[in-house]
Amino acid sequence: MCGIVGILGHGPVADRLLDGLKRLEYRGYDSSGMCTVHDGQFDRRRAPGKLANLARRLAEDPLPGDGGIAHTRWATHGAPTEDNAHPHIVGDVVLVHNGIIENFKPLRDELIAEGRQFLSQTDTEVVAHLVDRELSRGFKPKEAVANVLPRLHGAFALGVMFKSEPDLLIGARLGAPLTVGYGDGENFIGSDALALAPLTQRIAYLEEGDWAVVTRAHVQVYDKNNEAVERPIVNSGASGQLMDKGNHRHFMQKEIYEQPVVVAQTLRSYLRPLEEQVALPDMEFDLAGVERVAIVACGTAYYVGMIGKYWIEQLARIPVEIDFASEFRYRDPVFTPNMLGVVISQSGETADTLAALRHMKESGLTTGGIINVPTSSMAREVDLLLPTHAGPEIGVASTKAFTCQLAVMAALAVNLARAKGKLTAEEEREIVHHLREVPEAMSHALGHDAEIEAIAPKIAAARDVLYLGRGPEYPMALEGALKLKEISYIHAEGYASGEMKHGPIALIDDSVPLIVIAPSGPLFDKTVSNMQEAQARGAQVVLISDAEGIAQAGENTIATIEMPKVHPLIAPLVYAVPVQLLAYHVAVFKGTDVDQPRNLAKSVTVE
Ligand code: F6R
Repeated sequence: MCGIVGILGHGPVADRLLDGLKRLEYRGYDSSGMCTVHDGQFDRRRAPGKLANLARRLAEDPLPGDGGIAHTRWATHGAPTEDNAHPHIVGDVVLVHNGIIENFKPLRDELIAEGRQFLSQTDTEVVAHLVDRELSRGFKPKEAVANVLPRLHGAFALGVMFKSEPDLLIGARLGAPLTVGYGDGENFIGSDALALAPLTQRIAYLEEGDWAVVTRAHVQVYDKNNEAVERPIVNSGASGQLMDKGNHRHFMQKEIYEQPVVVAQTLRSYLRPLEEQVALPDMEFDLAGVERVAIVACGTAYYVGMIGKYWIEQLARIPVEIDFASEFRYRDPVFTPNMLGVVISQSGETADTLAALRHMKESGLTTGGIINVPTSSMAREVDLLLPTHAGPEIGVASTKAFTCQLAVMAALAVNLARAKGKLTAEEEREIVHHLREVPEAMSHALGHDAEIEAIAPKIAAARDVLYLGRGPEYPMALEGALKLKEISYIHAEGYASGEMKHGPIALIDDSVPLIVIAPSGPLFDKTVSNMQEAQARGAQVVLISDAEGIAQAGENTIATIEMPKVHPLIAPLVYAVPVQLLAYHVAVFKGTDVDQPRNLAKSVTVE
């Protein structure tokens, strides 16, 4: 994962590099570093931990120089120490890297056998040595990089500079994104358009296998065959503003509270209020021909896919397969004619999902993508882009992206149903009506924040927490457990409520809180029976339901959280709110780093 930024500027670049890193911290925050070329020397600062540590170091010991590269790291090879922090310097070469060099071990052995010494445990240092070796063999910097690239296996983006050529910055990509930014007498490289947004809006996205030779005056891109190529320069449209938390204590809290607005914003681009219809962006693709759907995603986005399976199968009667992106290619899926592939991703850069998307495309599938970042690799590569309009999501735990993805998934399900002739105009009108109720119902749910905060201490003391749900509330149970574990570090699992008695019920005793997500409706009684089976064994239940459900089953619980009464179709969007708030307050109570939990990164760009 990791984020890269490089600047060949006029005037000192350290502040601008640091600003670029702030925009890339979502890619990892295990360590960070920066190196400039100044008076024919490298000058470097590195720090383990959050970017604030590097900023402090730079404030104490400023970094001069008008050209440099910088990096924020999510550790893959080697602990998050200062020695393993990028940039790595070997002789005349300084280098930053995002991704994994899969064959680093034999390369390292080869270099050690030649007497080279390594100062870090990273795979990255191998690349710096390889380039340096080419220089010592008499090759010029450009040739040295060109010679090394074909030797690297895996997925990577690189930024390289040279002591002897301060007006040269080389960027390369294979499987990890890299952009080139065009300025006025200065040029840039960055992991994404957002990193470069305050520097320039004129961006070229490098393609797979491309490498770029950048000077202050000129950029030349080469493809994987070392042929000079032109990559279009586009206006990135990325905002140069750094996000702030407003009046909120954490980004996650702000993003939870933004949901009524951003879900309304997202729905607005999919609902036609006058016609009372649900629409998708204009596309030259006939949904009526779709006979199967394959959904692929990771983490929270995967749970959107699970809910989408319920909706698409129920409304459109089209069979849906759903896979973790990391498993998809490796199980050698069977593609059938007229299958629609759908990826779901906030970042649009998740390596596993991107690889799955490419696999689907190579296998001849038409692909759709429910994606939040419009400039991302996936947004550019899918055939049918179904954007979410959640705005930048900064908190590592996904919240508003999740509910916006659900809104778009509902729109897709309805459009498939109409195209397949499974939905009358009257039924569609009713769905539109329910979808339009979502923002208000979410605001209503947010109104229970104080009650949820009061429950948090009871959950925070637990070692294990279980979540139960049935139907579309089963993926919500999984999402609840994921939210809790990632930000509060409490072990949590979600189960389909009927599955409890097939094993997990053995975990139940009076130290295990059981969060039951059960809106009143067709599945309520069954879920409550499973809840009662657990209560009979001492389970400490928190019931999330509406007034009707709580009246019926709220007894003998340690707490209830009341949601407005909503139609089952929109329940996952509304019930997401208490599930997120509960995890949030437990984490705050425990004093964990809510926005940047340990070991995680916002965008997972390695497999
Ligand atoms: C959990 C979370 C992750 C992401 C997953 C996919 O709160 O944020 O599980 O959902 O890493 O990320 P995207 O949606 O960017 O592909």
